Amino acid sequence: MTRPVPSPAPELLRERHELRVGFEDPPSRGELLDFVRGAYAIVAFLSDRIDGELLDAAGPQLRVVSNYAVGYDNVDLAACAGRGVRIGNTPDVLTGAVAELTWGLILAAARQIVAGDRFVRERAEVGWAPDAILGLELRGSVLGVVGAGRIGSEVARIGRDGFGMDVVYTSRSEKPGLGRRVELDELLRRADVVSIHVALTPETHHLIGARELGLMPRHAVLVNVARGPVVDEAALAAALRDRRIAGAGLDVYEFEPHPLPELLALENVALTPHVGSATEHTRAEMARLCAQNVLAALDGKPMPAEVRP
Ligand code: GLV
Ligand code: GLV
Repeated sequence: MTRPVPSPAPELLRERHELRVGFEDPPSRGELLDFVRGAYAIVAFLSDRIDGELLDAAGPQLRVVSNYAVGYDNVDLAACAGRGVRIGNTPDVLTGAVAELTWGLILAAARQIVAGDRFVRERAEVGWAPDAILGLELRGSVLGVVGAGRIGSEVARIGRDGFGMDVVYTSRSEKPGLGRRVELDELLRRADVVSIHVALTPETHHLIGARELGLMPRHAVLVNVARGPVVDEAALAAALRDRRIAGAGLDVYEFEPHPLPELLALENVALTPHVGSATEHTRAEMARLCAQNVLAALDGKPMPAEVRP
């Protein structure tokens, strides 16, 4: 376990196996390579790059890498497959929590909650005016979901059923009843709210750049809770600064752990620190699933959530 994972993961693993727990703070590459030597299973964080070098540092006895995350862009799937190492992740248990944070950021961006918060703090007064901090009304507007997987579909359902929005989405497959499937360019032209839920792959790197932001209407907002590099962050900061789009909400960043400094000065963007799954309930469920993946793999059994290349 490269870094401490909450209960019940340590308890479940210690019942059956010897558990070594690694670093409180993110380890250096050298520390990580040293730490994994001799492991049969690695419980990894998103910030741990799992590639051929690391698998070889662990050794040929390694059977499984269990990511404490649903995303696995930190894992070289081919390198694992080539060495017979199985991969686990934590889907489903975090879908609701991530969808809820997504709506927090959509509301923050649409209703300029960051600007409003700053206004109240700086002036210590409220001051009602008919045209102060006007936002985008969600009811009756169009929600564009980029990537209607588990999380994207849940965000779409909440928009449709909770806010009465029309839903358009991109997806490899049709999702009956969810709304209308469209190409990305059409989604960007039509949606008042764009929310990103694709995995990070070579195909989705900078999926949203200056050209794509230019297709969005000026009153539209963009939210990204998926992976930072899906959006060209410098292009987004420029679009927000020049008010070419109205607002944004970000939980993930192109160059984590650091957001682009340009973003920090803008008040039309809400920033959260990669906390999509961060509720006590969900983190415990992720911990359980992550440990169950290890236990199953070490028993040579089907894993509850196995990533197949
Ligand atoms: C978090 O980003 C995750 O993939 O679980
Ligand atoms: C995440 O696992 C998703 O499918 O949206």
